[in-house]
Amino acid sequence: MRLLITGGRGLLGKEIAAAFCDRAEVRSTDLEELDVTNPAACRREVDGFRPDMVIHCAAWTAVDRAESEPERTRLLNVEGTRNVARACRERGALMVTFGTDYIFDGTSSRPYREEDAANPLSVYGKTKWAAELALREEGGDHLLVRTQWMFGPAGRNFIRTILEKARRGETLRVASDQVGCPTFSRDLAAAVRNLLGAGARGTVHFSSVGETTWFGLARHVLERCGLPAALLSPAQTRDLPYPAPRPAYGVLSKEKYRAITGVSPRPWEEAVGEYLEMIESEGGTR
Ligand SMILES: NC(=O)c1ccc[n+]([C@@H]2O[C@H](COP(=O)([O-])OP(=O)(O)OC[C@H]3O[C@@H](n4cnc5c(N)ncnc54)[C@H](OP(=O)(O)O)[C@@H]3O)[C@@H](O)[C@H]2O)c1
Repeated sequence: MRLLITGGRGLLGKEIAAAFCDRAEVRSTDLEELDVTNPAACRREVDGFRPDMVIHCAAWTAVDRAESEPERTRLLNVEGTRNVARACRERGALMVTFGTDYIFDGTSSRPYREEDAANPLSVYGKTKWAAELALREEGGDHLLVRTQWMFGPAGRNFIRTILEKARRGETLRVASDQVGCPTFSRDLAAAVRNLLGAGARGTVHFSSVGETTWFGLARHVLERCGLPAALLSPAQTRDLPYPAPRPAYGVLSKEKYRAITGVSPRPWEEAVGEYLEMIESEGGTR
């Protein structure tokens, strides 16, 4: 099996490469090797490497910066996805890519199911929804996994930022009115393997099990690391200086994932615990 990865140096791309290296000939690319906004480059890459599958991780993920740079966000998220999807369809390769809970408006009173109506609030959410539509419009063989609140060893993430600030003794105001579920990039990569092993296609949600707020996650992390929770205070999203609107509730239902794979995701506390042990053993946030 030949696997091409886009956005391979990102948070998820690195884990995908690690998760598939024992079962595929993997070519991992990032912006320097393959700019997905260039349709000819996408076609050339797929023609040249002839992958059986492309796992498309490249995306604009700076949610707040997207508000002031909507065109650059659209180009990468929508046109990038369309270009990869078209190249895959033309060459008969399976395309796997990723979506977000930010396509929902957060008014649901139960976990979002795959078929629930999208109503994105932010530029990032709108472009990710348009990317989904472009993917389906292309009509090739595909699997789209929606996820949320990702953390992992590659690059920056909320947990690492909170730890670094707390270790510097900074006080932290964190949103206590957004509900979601943290997801370890390593668990998501394993979930993609499970889904592909079960022959999944179409749209499937995946995150850890359980739910919390950003404030709840921050408090949990500080407590586990023996840092003073007094540094933390809960805040309302509207009082925080973030330009992008976010869904107040974005929990994703894992029912379909469970039904397809027979596997139940682990609780977020366990996944966060493993990640904290990993970065502690590397001295990562000192
Ligand atoms: N992170 C989350 O919490 C989260 C939540 C829900 C869904 N997702 C989705 O999961 C997927 C993976 O996200 P992630 O967090 O791993 O993203 P990420 O860490 O931002 O990685 C994206 C990678 O794509 C690269 N890239 C930028 N422009 C490119 C271009 N024109 N061509 C090719 N590569 C380019 C980036 O390089 P630079 O770093 O140099 O820009 C980066 O290495 C995305 O579809 C994202 O929307 C993420």
